[in-house]
Formats: sequence, structure tokens, C-alpha cells
Amino acid sequence: MGFPISRPRRLRRSETMRRMVRETRLSSDNLIQPFFVCPGKDVTRPVASMPGVAQMSVDRVAAAARETYAAGVPAVILFGIPERKDAQGSEAWNDSGEVQRAIREIKERVPGLVVVTDVCMCEYTDHGHCGALKGNDVDNDATLELLAREALSHARAGADIVAPSDMMDGRVGAIRDALDENGFADVAIMAYSAKFASAFYGPFRDAAESAPKFGDRRSYQMDPPNGDEAIREVALDLEEGADIVMVKPALAYLDLIYRVKREFMVPVAAYNVSGEYAMIRAAGLNGWIEEERVVMEVLTSIRRAGADMILTYFATEVARRLNG
Ligand code: PBG
Repeated sequence: MGFPISRPRRLRRSETMRRMVRETRLSSDNLIQPFFVCPGKDVTRPVASMPGVAQMSVDRVAAAARETYAAGVPAVILFGIPERKDAQGSEAWNDSGEVQRAIREIKERVPGLVVVTDVCMCEYTDHGHCGALKGNDVDNDATLELLAREALSHARAGADIVAPSDMMDGRVGAIRDALDENGFADVAIMAYSAKFASAFYGPFRDAAESAPKFGDRRSYQMDPPNGDEAIREVALDLEEGADIVMVKPALAYLDLIYRVKREFMVPVAAYNVSGEYAMIRAAGLNGWIEEERVVMEVLTSIRRAGADMILTYFATEVARRLNG
């Protein structure tokens, strides 16, 4: 018997063989497509820093949602760009706001599609922070009430899942109570549990017009070096009633996706955020990388790390490729 005894290459010799031993598979079932809903009718406004992504009016979002579902993607997540902003972000709980109308329109036209809504104040406040201000900082406990109102308004419009992304302490519990007290015990919560104060959200803030007018989000979003704290955040959200927990961003935090899945064995979502999308798109458009292969490799890695669901701006086009 010659050296070496073990030859892992034996199982890599053909695509058929590789298919037999492949450990992770990306399916369109794993994907969630984000949409940015803006005022107006027949409006599609491309987002400069996210080629291929646009703000769309309710009618256009509903049409796009139909295509997303037809491609095999089970869910969308909606972000709103309101007509007007104020200090409290009161458009967030306007029952005829952009997101609320989009939910109703999608539910009517694409009943099978799961509708998730982002619950946060930053798109609705004139100062761009994720809650009500007290001085120059976000007032945690005063914000809980506003988030609960927003979540409730989404639930009334027909949302299946609400996804709080503000990072206030206690918000999952506050939203759960509000939903339960108002007859929405069946509406699920996908908590942005380990959400970091990341530079990768830059393009999103163009898309959602939600950049803070002063300061940054470091007093509420997590400090990127902290891994154990992410586990504690997830534990708190689960105690407060989260059904799905999220790690965000995805790629620089794959270790946390892995740890969260191992530790809690609950449904885990990962957000492949705007900056991650923009980097791949930009390099792809320049011909510097093979974009399609890079996208599949990246999304498959997020699955391999342990994510059950991936929120990604690539969702619909990847689903089309996967499903032929
Ligand atoms: C709202 C929110 C943000 C994202 C999702 N929900 C932006 C932020 O926290 O500043 C980022 C998504 C992305 O970058 O793709 N708070």
C-alpha cells in the first residue's frame, strides 16, 4: 500500500460524485427578498449605490412581489419611505402608509407569499435615529411604545411576521404583548437580535433615506468586536418571545451565525446586507469577479454557517437560476 492512504480527491472526480457528498444546499426556500416602498404610483427609482435595486411604489412592489413568489422565493421584507417625517416617526403607524398599503396589496394579489415587515423608526423620523430622542440619544423606554404601535399597524394590514431592527432593550417583549393583547397572537416575530453598528449598511441608508442626521447608531446597535454579547442578546430576545432570531450583517459575522445556531437550535436568519451586495455587484459590473459564482458561494457559506433564512437583495435572481 502506497502513500497516501487517504485520498479525499477520490470523491471529487466528477460533478455526479461531488453531488453525492455535497453537505450544504442552497434552495430558493431559504431566501427572503427585501423591497423599498416609496410614495406615488408607477414609480421605480433606482438606488445609485445598489445597482439592480430600486425604490418602488405600492403597485410596482406588488407586481415585483408576484415575480419573486413565482421564482420560488417564499417571503419578502418591506421597508417604507414615507411621504413625510417628524420627530416621533408617526407615519410608521399610519394604517394607510406605504408599507401598510403594500402589505394589503400583496396579500390580495399574491396570497401565498409570506410578508415580513421591518419595524424601526429610522425611516420615519426627521433626525434619522431608530427611536424617539431625549437630548442627543435615543430614549429606549419611550421608543418601545412607538415600535409596538408600528408593529400593530403592520399586523392589522396583514403582515405575517414583524421584524424589529431598532435594537432597543425589551422591544421584542413589548411588541409581543401588544400583538397578543390585540388579537394577533399568530403574528410571528423575527428579531434582529445580533445587529451590529456596521459600516456595511451605507447603501441601505441611501435606499431607505434613513441616515442619521447627527451622530451614529453605536449607542444602540452592537459593537462589532463582541461575540459573547451577541449570544446574550439572542437569549434575551428568545425569552421575550422571538420566533426567529437574526444575525446582521452576515459575512463578517459568520462565526456568530454558527454559534447562535449551535447554542439555541431555533430558526436563524442572516442578513446579507446592502454593503455586501454593493461590493459584489460593483466588482461584478467591472468584470473583476464572476458575479454569479461569487453570489452562490457567499449565500451557500451563510447556509453552511447555520442560517436557515437569508435576507438578500439577490434573492429573486438567485431563485430563478436555482429553479431553472
Ligand atoms: C433599519 C434597518 C437598517 C437595515 C435594516 N433595517 C439600517 C440601519 O440600521 O441603519 C440595514 C440593511 C442593509 O444594509 O441592507 N434600522
